[in-house]
Amino acid sequence: MDNIKIIKEQLLKDLQTIDTIKKLNDLKIEYLGKKGKITTLNSTIKSIDDDKKKEFGIKLNDLKQTFNTKYKEMYEKLNQELINQKLESERIDITLPATKIKYGSKHPISRVIEEFEDLFLSMGYTIYDGPELESDENCFQKLNIAKGHPARDAQDTFYLENEYENYLLRSQTSAAQVRAMEENKEKGPLKIVCPGKVYRKDEDATHSHQFMQIEGLVIDENVSMADLKGTLELFLKKFLGEKTTVRFRPSYFPFTEPSVEVDISCFKCGGKGCNLCKQTGFIEVLGAGMVHPHVLQMCGYDPNKYQGFAFGTGIDRFTMFKYSINDIRTIYGNDIRFLEQFDRRDDNNEIK
Ligand code: PHE
Repeated sequence: MDNIKIIKEQLLKDLQTIDTIKKLNDLKIEYLGKKGKITTLNSTIKSIDDDKKKEFGIKLNDLKQTFNTKYKEMYEKLNQELINQKLESERIDITLPATKIKYGSKHPISRVIEEFEDLFLSMGYTIYDGPELESDENCFQKLNIAKGHPARDAQDTFYLENEYENYLLRSQTSAAQVRAMEENKEKGPLKIVCPGKVYRKDEDATHSHQFMQIEGLVIDENVSMADLKGTLELFLKKFLGEKTTVRFRPSYFPFTEPSVEVDISCFKCGGKGCNLCKQTGFIEVLGAGMVHPHVLQMCGYDPNKYQGFAFGTGIDRFTMFKYSINDIRTIYGNDIRFLEQFDRRDDNNEIK
């Protein structure tokens, strides 16, 4: 009987020291666990005299009841404290500055393509897309480059195998022009630009196995070399600045006759000679020429009625000039530190 009293007093004292749920649960084990203080009292009931058993039982029950009530009270109190603490620590301070959200940005190549497209659209051209996987006919044969023609060496590319051996990853966007000419059922005037990816077996600081080209084609009656020169001069001055000098040099392409290569005065040194232009004052930027009558004929046009001019250039090269990039591989490396530099809202299209 006295034991019950002592344990009860002890329990009330112990409860005052409890300040965590863990301690509370430890206390439960101490009192009600297998060898707990109350559990042990339970087993002493046998040795109690019969006349005192009832009283002992009542007191023991009262002790258990006290424990349980206190336990519940304590548990709720501690749990509430815990919740309050959590609410306090996770409170959102709406006056804190917001986390900066990173926006994606246009790839420099996409910027240049759009600029080119805008320029040509303003001159009345339409944009024509061709597939990257092309037939040998469209990429070479209908452009006067028969099988075994030496011009193929300069555009060595990726051919498919077995039943698809007549197909390849196009090495020039001129293939799309063949398609445009063939698709034009009326065989009338055409004025298109074809931007897109092309593939060649190259890989160094200024050549990539995959790069971007844009080619233009104009077909009409009475189209001459003067139109070609005027168009390209206008385009290059618009893109690179009015001060640019444009130079035409005779050249050779199997699908144009006559053919020219087009140079611009070096925008870095202004034509004086520097490391960019290899001291020549000029940089080669375009290939062009009057569409070969045989090509017109193969694509269904009457070469006695129609003439055309075509030009083609590498978009990567212009991108490198525009943003002073000296290794083409950075353009395709997807390095976020490089790409982030183009994350700007206000565009300035002038090359400085
Ligand atoms: N297709 C040529 C090339 O990739 C460029 C070119 C296009 C030349 C049109 C003349 C006319 O090298």
